[in-house]
Amino acid sequence: MYVCLCKGITDSQIRDAVCSGASSLRQVRSQLGVMSQCGKCGVLTKEIMEETMEQRNFDHGEPLFYAAS
Ligand code: FES
Repeated sequence: MYVCLCKGITDSQIRDAVCSGASSLRQVRSQLGVMSQCGKCGVLTKEIMEETMEQRNFDHGEPLFYAAS
């Protein structure tokens, strides 16, 4: 699915960038060029990044939350 129509960036490219180590919107923007024109793709890009990071944590067996002591 296209997320950034201005640059033709798909959700798969964003997920790949996160899986390759991009951990901030700035890093994804600099790697792919999302949000570099009209900026309308920012919210969806952030949602896809968060979803991908949660999935990666789940897949690696790491807890998303830690108990407060
Ligand atoms: S839709 Fe991404 S910069 Fe315009």
